[in-house]
Amino acid sequence: MQYALSGESIPSVPADVAIGFMAEASDPQAPAVQRWSDLTDGLVAELVGRDEFRGEKRSTALIHKPARLAADRLMLVGCGAPAKLTLATVRDAVGAAWRKLRASGVRSLVVEIPEGFDADRGVRAVVEGVVHADYEPDLHKSRNRKASSLEALTVIAKGASQAALDRAAATAEASNLARELANEPGNLLPPKVLAARARELASGAGLECEVLDRSQLEALNMGALLGVARGSKEPPVLIVVRYRPERVGETETHLGLVGKAVTFDTGGISLKPSADMHFMKHDMAGGAAMLGAMLAIAKVRPSVPVTAVIPSVENMPGAEAQRPGDIVTARSGTTVEVLNTDAEGRLILADALTYAKELGCTHMVDAATLTGAIVVALGPHYTGLFGNDDDWTKRVVQASKDAGEQMWPMPLGPQYTKMLDSTVADLANIGPRWGGAVTAAAFLEHFVDETPWAHLDIAGTAWHEKPVPQAPVGASGVGVATLVELALGLG
Ligand code: BES
Ligand code: MN
Ligand code: ZN
Repeated sequence: MQYALSGESIPSVPADVAIGFMAEASDPQAPAVQRWSDLTDGLVAELVGRDEFRGEKRSTALIHKPARLAADRLMLVGCGAPAKLTLATVRDAVGAAWRKLRASGVRSLVVEIPEGFDADRGVRAVVEGVVHADYEPDLHKSRNRKASSLEALTVIAKGASQAALDRAAATAEASNLARELANEPGNLLPPKVLAARARELASGAGLECEVLDRSQLEALNMGALLGVARGSKEPPVLIVVRYRPERVGETETHLGLVGKAVTFDTGGISLKPSADMHFMKHDMAGGAAMLGAMLAIAKVRPSVPVTAVIPSVENMPGAEAQRPGDIVTARSGTTVEVLNTDAEGRLILADALTYAKELGCTHMVDAATLTGAIVVALGPHYTGLFGNDDDWTKRVVQASKDAGEQMWPMPLGPQYTKMLDSTVADLANIGPRWGGAVTAAAFLEHFVDETPWAHLDIAGTAWHEKPVPQAPVGASGVGVATLVELALGLG
């Protein structure tokens, strides 16, 4: 796809479709209506007068052959009350518009950012809205695939920078790639296939990639990771992807991105109930987000080194599977009593976090579909954010805000760590019933020690169970935008 910026005004830019934003209005004479009405010889005022379109959030009106526009069609999209207009509203409105247009063969699109926003941020909202909405999870349909027809997107934003456009395009495409990976079913994307994809993607992007196999993981004493892998015929891998800047900035920061990639989570011997188990094909969304972020980082080139560490296993109840009550020794030397084999994400992350520190990461973020408990706490709208260092946590929260991803700070502390006491080992892998998202984070914290670290529990936000106006069902690509923003802000 071609992306371009334009400083012209919307009527003069030719395209198959122009998308325009309209604030909510019930009066056909309102200024928000008048502007579009003038460009359509009164048609928009008539639509508003007839109550057919009033600019309600994400509602749309399609006008063919608009009188005073160079574009062939005009799609107006509502963005609700003007006082409440945020960049996220703009992004979702343009996404909702493109979801409706996507199947109709539109090849060129021009979108004007609404007034009152910083031009670079407006560009980002528009590009993300269109590119995210363009993604369709139909890779495996042999008939009626709805391939995208979009070839060119022009964003009208006076004073916007090319860098902002490039950054937005790289990030949005990377998050679609993360979605594609996270949507792959367990049979088609076991750990070794994920590793092969990572290798291929990394080499295409000029990143280094190393894949550690079972024997290497054994040599590294990664007993926590290996214990989870035992129940599956699919061998485990640890994927390491490295970005090195040409010129290292002044800080000695080295960002580590650790992503849970359980390619399918049956629960193991602590087997999950079968209803909804198929969603566990998305249990590698954290790893997919880290890979996506690395690809965007390779394009936008921040001045700090970034290393992704992605432990990947399949959690199965095979004859060799670990049992509840088993004790494993993590790479750090900590012994863990595995009271529940379904709390596997924290086990593989424990060894991955240890390894990321050993690779020199000074600041870490992990992303994981870690607990059902975070979904109970926050529902599908906010990612739960935990951390051991206030400054670092604040940075990550700020990056999430700038990136338009919703994350909510959650507590940690010795009271929660105590809940993981084991009678027979250093730590148990689960705590009592309550506070399950927090005890899971406290488990990870044990393996991080003093390194500033933030943990993103994306169990509620990693996929949509139902389509939303701006996105289809399936993986959401959550995390990619925040991590790219964070990396760019570090130097
Ligand atoms: N992958 C799941 C968490 C999950 C659940 C993600 C629902 C998305 C939606 C994780 O491995 C898991 O099974 N966690 C258990 C932990 C429990 C055994 C302490 C959970 O949350 O039930
Ligand atoms: Mn599990
Ligand atoms: Zn899991």
